[in-house]
Amino acid sequence: MSFALPVELDDIQGLVRFGYKHHTEASFLLLRVTDRDAARRWLASVPVCTAETVEPPPDTALQIALSGDGMRALGVSDTIVDAFAAEFVTGMANDANRARRLGDVGSNDPSRWQWGTGTRVPHVLVLLYALPGRLAGFRSAIEAQCAAGFEKLDCLTTIDLDGIEPFGFMDGISQPLVDWQRKRAAKDAERKDYSNLSCLGEYLLGYPNEYGGYTDRPLLDPALAGTRLPRAEDAPDRADLGRNGSYLVMRQLRQDVHGFWQFVDRQAGGDAGRRETIASAMVGRRRDGVPLIGPADETIEGGGAPGDLNAFTYRSDRDGLRCPLGAHIRRSNPRNADLPPGAPGFISWAKRTLGFDADALAHDLVASTRFHRLLRRGREYGTGVLPEQALGVPSADADTGLHFICLGANIARQFEFVQNAWAMAVRFDGLPSESDPLLGTREPATDGTPTDGFSMPRADGAADRISGLPQFVTVVGGGYFFLPGIRALRFLASPP
Ligand code: HEM
Repeated sequence: MSFALPVELDDIQGLVRFGYKHHTEASFLLLRVTDRDAARRWLASVPVCTAETVEPPPDTALQIALSGDGMRALGVSDTIVDAFAAEFVTGMANDANRARRLGDVGSNDPSRWQWGTGTRVPHVLVLLYALPGRLAGFRSAIEAQCAAGFEKLDCLTTIDLDGIEPFGFMDGISQPLVDWQRKRAAKDAERKDYSNLSCLGEYLLGYPNEYGGYTDRPLLDPALAGTRLPRAEDAPDRADLGRNGSYLVMRQLRQDVHGFWQFVDRQAGGDAGRRETIASAMVGRRRDGVPLIGPADETIEGGGAPGDLNAFTYRSDRDGLRCPLGAHIRRSNPRNADLPPGAPGFISWAKRTLGFDADALAHDLVASTRFHRLLRRGREYGTGVLPEQALGVPSADADTGLHFICLGANIARQFEFVQNAWAMAVRFDGLPSESDPLLGTREPATDGTPTDGFSMPRADGAADRISGLPQFVTVVGGGYFFLPGIRALRFLASPP
C-alpha cells in the first residue's frame, strides 16, 4: 500500500527544480576519489543548494552527483550499488551494445573520449553555479577543499551565450512542466492529448511516474539507515535511498559550427535566406526560437498559452510540410499523446485504437511522448561564433559545444530512448535514410542503409532532399550519474 508524503524541497537538489538561469557562470568538476575517508568527510558536510526557493538567489550554488564507480570508491556496498538502474551501474561507455545504440561509434567512439572511460570515469561530479563575477573565487575554494580526498580529472568550463547554443539557435525553450503539486493523476490510462505536465516521478525517484508506478531503486532495511533516510511511499517498511534523487546524464558534445554553416550555405547556393530556411528546418525552430510549425496557437496542459514559443503540437502538420518530420525538435519530442495522431472524434479514435488506420500505424513509433521526456540542464562551452562569422575561415583552436545534461528517473526509458529510438533512428516516422540532422553520426546503419539524408517535404508530395550531411556534433566525453537527495548523499558518504 502506498501513501503520499509531502514533497520535501529541502531534501531535493536545486537543479531538479531550477536551471540556475541567474547563475550565468558555471563549471563542472570531474573528480576521482584518492582518499576515501577525506572524500566521505567532504561529501558528508559540503553545503548543497536545495530546491527550496531562496530570494534573492544565493551568490553561488553547488550540486553533487555520483557515478556507480564513485559509489564503490566511497565504500558503498555492492548490494546497494547494484540496486540502482542497470544502465547507471554499467555506465555510459562500458558496453559496446549501448555505445552502438547511443551512436557512440566512429568518431564518437568512447575510446576517443577525453573523459568517461576506464580511469577517466569521474567518481564525483561537482556542479558549480555562480552569479556574474562570483565563480572564480568559489571554484578555487571548492577545489582547495577537495584536494585532500580527490584527484581532479578535469574542470569543464562553460560560457554564457545568453540562451543561444553555439550553432546560433535559441535553446532551453521547451521543458516539461514538473508536477510539483502532485495534481496530475498518475495512471497508465490512455491519454488522448499531448500534455506538457509531467509526473514528479518521471524526474525524481520515490514518487509515482507516468505509469502510476514507482521506478525501481534501492530500498533498504531500516535497521541499516535508522532515521537517516525517508521511508518509501510504496513500501513503508523500507528506507528509500532513491527518494528525492534523479539520474543525471552528461555528454560533452563538440559542435562543428563552421562545418554546419558552411555545409548549409553550400546547399543554399550562397543565398542567405535559403541558408536560414535549411538550418531552421534542421532544428525545427528559427534562430530566434519561433517554431516552424507556425503560430503557436494551441492550448496545451502545462505547455504555455497560445502565442508563446511552446504552445504547439504537430497534429496539424502530419506530413511535415511546415516542420520536417526529421527536424531535431520533432525527433526529440514528437509531442504525441498515447495514440498515433489523427482527426478528433470517436470514429477516428476507434480506427486508430483498433489499428485500422494505415496512416496512423506509420506514426506508431513516435507515440506516447509522455514516457520519454527529459529535463534539460545543459550549458554551452568554448567561444561563441556568429553564423555569419562561421562562414569565414575557422580558427584552428575552435573548440565549442554543449555540455548536455539531462535529468530523469529512468535513463533507459528517457535519455537512451530519445537518443536511440528517435534521434539516431534511421527510419524515424517512416523517413528513409536519415538520422537527427544535428546529432547524427552519418555512419551507415547495420544493414548498410545510409543515414546522412535530410528531407523537407513539399506540398506537391515530393521533398527537397539533402544528402551527404557531414557529422556536426561529436561526443568527446560522458557519463551516467546519480544526483541524490541530500539525506541520501549524506548516507552514501557515511562509513558502512
Ligand atoms: C550539440 C547538441 C545539441 C544541440 C545544438 C541542440 C539544440 C537544440 C535546440 C536549438 C533546441 C530548440 C530549443 C528548445 O526547444 O528548447 C533543442 C531542443 C531539444 N533538444 Fe537538443 N540539442 C542538442 C543535443 C540534444 C540531445 C543529445 C538531446 C537528447 C538526446 C536533445 C534533446 C532535445 C529536446 C528534448 C528538445 C526539446 C524538444 C521539444 O520539446 O520540442 N538535444 N535542442
